Amino acid sequence: MKKLFYIKTYGCQMNFYDSEKIQDLLKPMGYILSKEPENCDLAILNTCHIREKASEKMYSDIGRLSKYKKNKKLAGENMIIAICGCVAQAEGKEIIKRNKDVDIVLGPHNYHKLTSILSKKFTRPVIKNEFDVEEKFNSFPKPSFSGVTAFVSIQEGCDKFCTFCVVPYTRGAEYSRNVLDIFGEVKNLVSLGVKEITLLGQNVNAYNGKFDFQNPKNLYSLAKLCSFLSEIKGLERIRYITSHPADMTDELILEHQNNSKLMPYLHLPIQSGSNKILKEMNRRYTKEVYLKIVEKLRSKIPNIALTSDFIVGFPGENKSDFDDTMDIVKSVKFAGSYSFKYSPRPGTPAFLKKFDLEDNIINDRLNILQKELNLQQKQFNEKCIGLDMEVLIEKIGKKRNQFVGRSEYLQPVHIISREDLIGKLVKVKIKSLTSFSLHGKLS
Ligand code: 5AD
Ligand code: SF4
Repeated sequence: MKKLFYIKTYGCQMNFYDSEKIQDLLKPMGYILSKEPENCDLAILNTCHIREKASEKMYSDIGRLSKYKKNKKLAGENMIIAICGCVAQAEGKEIIKRNKDVDIVLGPHNYHKLTSILSKKFTRPVIKNEFDVEEKFNSFPKPSFSGVTAFVSIQEGCDKFCTFCVVPYTRGAEYSRNVLDIFGEVKNLVSLGVKEITLLGQNVNAYNGKFDFQNPKNLYSLAKLCSFLSEIKGLERIRYITSHPADMTDELILEHQNNSKLMPYLHLPIQSGSNKILKEMNRRYTKEVYLKIVEKLRSKIPNIALTSDFIVGFPGENKSDFDDTMDIVKSVKFAGSYSFKYSPRPGTPAFLKKFDLEDNIINDRLNILQKELNLQQKQFNEKCIGLDMEVLIEKIGKKRNQFVGRSEYLQPVHIISREDLIGKLVKVKIKSLTSFSLHGKLS
């Protein structure tokens, strides 16, 4: 019988990857994806716990699903509500206590259990939040359909324990998948038409994976993995996200220099430009070390685009700490970045620190920072006008004969063509810029 399911994903790319895998699990069970939750037999929220706002959003969305579930009950039908992801891991029991309509709670390492849970009758809520990442990866089925680009999770969890961050508690210890498993997944994706992969990990450049089970001592770094994957014929581009400055090795920088499939783009979060705050955050580097990495990267790969994450208003951040952040932003010049107000997360060491900075001061600092980051992004994009850029076309655009792709630096690029270019790498002369998109002509 036809059953409908709905899935909403919050947060990082890792969650989007997991949500795709959940869909791959459900489709063979006869479930069909629906864009709206109202009439579904199963509604899934794949949640994020990184900042308070993301968690609160989940609770209001559960409230909405509850109403739909009640309506279905009146019609003699049921809607199973499943909460997955990092909030499920961190607040499993609390979720069930706060909302009696939730049926299933699954932490990030437990999605593969969904099939067996759904195939049995259950009368009480089911909570699964064991840490067994290896079993999870081994249980996902092969996808049978994909677009031009795809995410491939290669590493999960984190051992860095930055004092503000929930990831080591919700995703567990660092785990790297086997090289041959990743190779097989990428090869399959390429056979389905994928041209670009983004390797995912919470701390992706700490990747240290066994080649296979028979060779536990034969370990591959991220650089070696990229080199190995680039041998796959038909794979045109490789990206990876998110990196930690302390794991940015010379080997990886050299790989960028020598491997033409590895894109000249690096997301390398610094978080703050103040050595005092970096220490309080337990980031394990100073601003000088970060600048040295940038210098090395730019000496080997002069065109590399750098992006970062910033946290504003960490406990103890004073005006001079914030000025240090602005100084580093102005000296590095980023191609784009994310910036967030510090959000105290229960269970993290920073949660216990005195946090008395006034909200209007934090907002002012965030505004100043974002204004500068937006300006830098605009300047970076403006420098592309007149260039011939290599663009991988991903989809059709909103206008007639319009196609949209991405440059090497991940910028969206719009072009007009009568020929279907989806999946093709084309040279585009960049003519203009609208907000953060580039527009050009086939050259
Ligand atoms: N408050 C604000 N931002 C945070 N991040 C992680 N934890 C917090 C927090 N408690 C940000 C960091 C990280 C990005 C994924 O989210 O900048 O790099
Ligand atoms: Fe969180 Fe720090 Fe690990 Fe990144 S490196 S996931 S910010 S603990």
